[in-house]
Amino acid sequence: MAVQISPSILSADFARLADEARAVEDTADWLHVDVMDNHFVPNLTLGLPVVKSLLKAAALPIDCHLMITDPDQHAPASAEAGVQSVTIHAEAAKAPVRTLRAIRAAGARAGLGINPSTPVEPYQDLLPELDMLLLMTVEPGFGGQKFLDLVLWKIRRARAMLAAGGHREIWLQVDGGVSAETIERCAEAGADVFVAGSAVYGAQDPAQAISALREQAERAVAVAGWSVPHPSL
Ligand code: DX5
Ligand code: ZN
Repeated sequence: MAVQISPSILSADFARLADEARAVEDTADWLHVDVMDNHFVPNLTLGLPVVKSLLKAAALPIDCHLMITDPDQHAPASAEAGVQSVTIHAEAAKAPVRTLRAIRAAGARAGLGINPSTPVEPYQDLLPELDMLLLMTVEPGFGGQKFLDLVLWKIRRARAMLAAGGHREIWLQVDGGVSAETIERCAEAGADVFVAGSAVYGAQDPAQAISALREQAERAVAVAGWSVPHPSL
């Protein structure tokens, strides 16, 4: 199954995180956790202690998105704590090769995130170090923002780059403004892992919203015809 959905708890009720995680565990693939330090982005969320509690409380694997200025210092600790996927930002990492390798060495999947205005091409040589490429489809920092269509071309270029380089095993994640209105365009362009915050936790029935998003994305991927089966985790 090519499509994966990673609901973002940024739009969940922070006072009831365990319940909110449970609400999506039957239909989601991952639980997306946004770590923000109020420096890399103008917002402050949670850190490793909360992530560790979620690891214990949640049945889903954790997809940790680090929006922090010093991922080189902090990312390995998340992986060592048992987080299954750790994504650092290209704009923040000073030693991405070392940090991505440290994440993998600790047993986690290594992700590289890039902001809407950061081109993907300079990271081509880094692809062998990655398990996932995250293309932000809003400026990072807040949930509920409008999807940036301008990133669609970059999604296409990234998908082509992965195919041309023989990197089909690398997942291509989109994050920001992903909803019933936009997920098909993302999938058609080449994304296969979809983060959705407000479209899931703002819905009456979060589990059902995930199933509906997945159906839409699977249909669009089938039409686009680029999909390949994922190896199981
Ligand atoms: C934003 C975060 C996202 C956020 C997405 O910087 O990285 O994960 O939760 O929220 P929505 O889906 O509401 O745009
Ligand atoms: Zn995120």
